[in-house]
Amino acid sequence: MFVLYWFGIFLLFFNLDQSLGIGCDKPTPIEDNSQLSSIQSCQIVNGDLVIQKFKDPLIELTNLEKINGNLIIKESAELVRVEAPKLTSLNELKLSQLTSLSLVSFPNLRNVNSLNWQVIPILSNIRFSSDVKDIENIVISDTSLTGFSGFQTKVLRNLDINNNRFLETINSNVESITGKLKIVSNASNLKLSLPDLKSVDTVSINDVEELNLSGLKEINSSISLINNHFQKLLLENLTSIGGTLSISDNTRLSDIDLKNLKEVRGGLMIINNTDISQVDFLKKLRVIDGGLEVSGNLEYLDFPELKLIKGSVKIKSTNKKFNCNKIIREKLSLALRGGKITCESIDPSNNYRSIDGLNDLEDVNNNFGYNATQISNGNRLTPIIMQLMRSVSTFAGGL
Ligand SMILES: *[C@@H]1O[C@H](CO)[C@@H](O)[C@H](O)[C@H]1NC(C)=O
Ligand SMILES: *[C@@H]1O[C@H](CO)[C@@H](O)[C@H](O)[C@H]1NC(C)=O
Ligand SMILES: *[C@@H]1O[C@H](CO)[C@@H](O)[C@H](O)[C@H]1NC(C)=O
Ligand SMILES: *[C@@H]1O[C@H](CO)[C@@H](O)[C@H](O)[C@H]1NC(C)=O
Ligand SMILES: *[C@@H]1O[C@H](CO)[C@@H](O)[C@H](O)[C@H]1NC(C)=O
Ligand SMILES: *[C@@H]1O[C@H](CO)[C@@H](O)[C@H](O)[C@H]1NC(C)=O
Repeated sequence: MFVLYWFGIFLLFFNLDQSLGIGCDKPTPIEDNSQLSSIQSCQIVNGDLVIQKFKDPLIELTNLEKINGNLIIKESAELVRVEAPKLTSLNELKLSQLTSLSLVSFPNLRNVNSLNWQVIPILSNIRFSSDVKDIENIVISDTSLTGFSGFQTKVLRNLDINNNRFLETINSNVESITGKLKIVSNASNLKLSLPDLKSVDTVSINDVEELNLSGLKEINSSISLINNHFQKLLLENLTSIGGTLSISDNTRLSDIDLKNLKEVRGGLMIINNTDISQVDFLKKLRVIDGGLEVSGNLEYLDFPELKLIKGSVKIKSTNKKFNCNKIIREKLSLALRGGKITCESIDPSNNYRSIDGLNDLEDVNNNFGYNATQISNGNRLTPIIMQLMRSVSTFAGGL
């Protein structure tokens, strides 16, 4: 007992000493090696550690274990390496405008709240502890990173990775992103895999070759997928989008699964996707709160459950099989409320345009009406207006 007791006291003192370390408060910004030596003995820095316009190639923080604040290193074109072998914890790691930086080595770093790295064009080598935790926010742009993975984080505020020309993989087990997921990273062969992501606020994804967001259930604001190279967009469990859904200029996209999507609270845009000629994959979509725009080599459109479009409708097909009258008459005119319709196809006698604000219709239908005219073939004007009036009054009761 005696021995254990004293051993215990010894441990207590030892630990106290370890955790206090040599503390340094609010250091002034550091610009060269001689200023750096003034903090070399610090084990703990309280406040932000700012290193800027640094004139030497190497920053070595040999004793530093913890920063109760941010580490900001910026505007240092000479800097090649940053090493902090004992550093375990800091708030934000902000690196910007470091055009010669090629190595960041923090092999014991476990707790970091935010990574913000911008304009580090030759950075290709990052060494962190393999179990980095607590990251909430990640912004990485203009680097030469080739891969990004391994962060054990369930909830992120933002994941913004853009303009990293060599980045080929992004993997994470993140489950929720409360701000934006932005991947606009133009190595043309980027594979993005976030299979556990269930809920996200805003999504914008460009230049991606393979996409796995298969766990996604809800998008609270908008999603835009532009200029990607993936063939498959499989979002079988996505039920609602709080803003706009925009799928544009994806040259190889042919397989879309959105079979459970019921509502789009903004607009819906499906534009110029080379391999999409049949837009019939929105089998449960009932409501579009904004406008609907669909264009490209369209053969056929169908929205079997669509009951309400609050904005305007704009359709343009370059496929000669496409028939404006059919889709407008059988489906879209029935769902439209308030907006106008234009539809253009190869066959001009088939084209269609409505212009909103026709007073007669408005009077009859309490602002549910709009002008309707056919671009050519004026003799169909009357039947189409009648058709629209009928659908509008059916709807006024129905919703
Ligand atoms: C999205 O909205 C739902 C319902 O308001 C909320 O429970 C969820 O946390 C939100 N998700 C994100 C990622 O903000
Ligand atoms: C990446 O995208 C940016 C902006 O979109 C563009 O200026 C740049 O030329 C692109 N780089 C490559 C390699 O495609
Ligand atoms: C997405 O990733 C998960 C987990 O790795 C995997 O089980 C699933 O098959 C992938 N889905 C697609 C469509 O690749
Ligand atoms: C979609 O949800 C169902 C039911 O919760 C689940 O069984 C299935 O694995 C989910 N699909 C994906 C790709 O996560
Ligand atoms: C769609 O493609 C056509 C023809 O290539 C082009 O004129 C038009 O600007 C494109 N629209 C969008 C929104 O990209
Ligand atoms: C609706 O049509 C009428 C008659 O052609 C025209 O005078 C009016 O300006 C149109 N309204 C709008 C908003 O285009």
